[in-house]
Amino acid sequence: MRVLVVGSGGREHALAWKLSQSPGLSALFVAPGNGGTQKVATNLACDITDNDAVVALAREHEIDFVVVGPDAQVVQGLGDAVRTAGIDCFCPSAAAGQLEGSKSFTKALCDEMGIPTAAYRKFDAAQPALGYIRGHKLPVVIKADGLALGKGVTVATTLADAEHAVTDCFSGTFGAAGASVVIEDFLEGEEASFFVLCDGEDILPLATAQDHKRAFDGDMGPNTGGMGAYSPAPVMTPEITARAIREIIEPTVRGMKARGTPYQGVLYAGLMLTADGPKLIEYNARFGDPETQVLMPRLKSDLLELLLATARGGLGGKTAEWRDEFALTVVMATQGYPSSYPRGSEIRGADVLDADDLIVFHAGTRRDGDRLLANGGRVLNVTALGATVATAKQRCDSSTASIDWPEGFHRHDIGWREVLRERNAALDR
Ligand code: AMP
Ligand code: GLY
Repeated sequence: MRVLVVGSGGREHALAWKLSQSPGLSALFVAPGNGGTQKVATNLACDITDNDAVVALAREHEIDFVVVGPDAQVVQGLGDAVRTAGIDCFCPSAAAGQLEGSKSFTKALCDEMGIPTAAYRKFDAAQPALGYIRGHKLPVVIKADGLALGKGVTVATTLADAEHAVTDCFSGTFGAAGASVVIEDFLEGEEASFFVLCDGEDILPLATAQDHKRAFDGDMGPNTGGMGAYSPAPVMTPEITARAIREIIEPTVRGMKARGTPYQGVLYAGLMLTADGPKLIEYNARFGDPETQVLMPRLKSDLLELLLATARGGLGGKTAEWRDEFALTVVMATQGYPSSYPRGSEIRGADVLDADDLIVFHAGTRRDGDRLLANGGRVLNVTALGATVATAKQRCDSSTASIDWPEGFHRHDIGWREVLRERNAALDR
C-alpha cells in the first residue's frame, strides 16, 4: 500500500515513523514533511492549504491511503476532497471536524446528548457578552468560537482581563474565529488527554497523555502548542477512563451519527478531571502534537491497519497493544517561540541519538546537505521510554543536554506532576 502523510510537524514524523514499520506498506510519502520525516519517507513539496494540490499529488504518486495530521486541513475539508477523488483517507469530514472547528457546535452537541462539560453561553456581539461576565463569578473562561491556533482561550481571574478578552475577540484579533464567543464556567481539576479512534460507529480507545502548554518551567509564560508530554497519564484511572468513554465519547459518536455527520478519525478529548468526574473541555479532530510523539513509541500494533479500519469502517473487534513503559517527550524550540523567532540556526548532535528507547522526532527542521537547521518554532521532540516517568525523563534530559543548539530552549520539568506522585509513592513504601 502506498501511503501519504499530510503535515510537517513532530506529530507527522511520529506517524510516519510508526507507519514505516507496517508490513502492509510499500511506499511512504510525507507532504511537505521535515528534516526528520525524510529519514523514514520521501518528502514531497506541496501547498497543503490547497485541497486540489494535495489530491493532484496523491494521484501523481498513485497513493492508496492519505493520513491527514493537522487541524487546519481537517477543517478545510481535505478529507472530503481526497475521498471524492476515490482515495481512502484518515481524516474526519469538514462537517464532523466542527467538533474542533467550532466551540459552540461542540457545546450544543453536549447539551443535546447530556455530555458533562462546563456551563456556558454563546454571544455574537460584545455588549451582551460584557454584561454577562460582569455578573459572572471569577475565574471565567472566554473562548473565540473558531480555530485560533490555540490562542483563542483566556482563563480570566479578574474582570478587567475578562473584559479585555471579550473586546479582543470582537475586535477581530482572531479574524472570523472570533466573530462569536463562548463564555464558560471555570472547571477545577487536573487535565488529561484521551485519544480514541472512531469509524463513524465503533470506537477503539487508544491511550491517555498529559501535555504542558506553557512555554517555561513551572507552567509559566505564554501558551504554546505544547512543550512536552507523557503517556500514559495514570490520573486517568481505569474507572475514570470507563466513565469518560460512557459519558463523553460514546454519546458524541452517537450524536454525530444521528446528525448525519458520522465522526471518522481520531477523537482527541481534552478532559478536566473534576471532583464530579471527567468533564469535556474541548475536542480536537486530529492527533495531538506533541502527544502523538509519546503514543507512537508505545504502540505495538500495526498503525496502518488501525488507521485503515478507522477510515473504511471495521474498527469493531480490533484491539491496540501497548508497551508497558511510559513515554515522555521534551520539545526543543527556537528562542522567541511562541512569538517571533529566527530560522536557520544549526543543530548539532541530534541525529546520533536514536536508539530502541530514545527517538528524536523532528518538527520545524530542514536539511542543508549534512547540516540540520531549525526551520520553525517547535523544532525537535526528544522522546524516551522508561519504566517510570522519572526514568523516561532522565533519558530525555541527558539527550537534550548532548544536543548542541545555543539558539534553542526547552523545559526541564515535563511530567512534573507524575514525577512528584512517583516520588511520594516511593516515600510511602
Ligand atoms: P481549549 O483550547 O478549549 O482546550 O482551552 C485551552 C486551555 O484552557 C485548556 O487546556 C485549559 O487549560 C483551559 N480551559 C479551557 N476551558 C476551561 C474551563 N472551562 N475551565 C478551566 N480551564 C479551562
Ligand atoms: N498538544 C495540544 C494539541 O495538539 O492541540
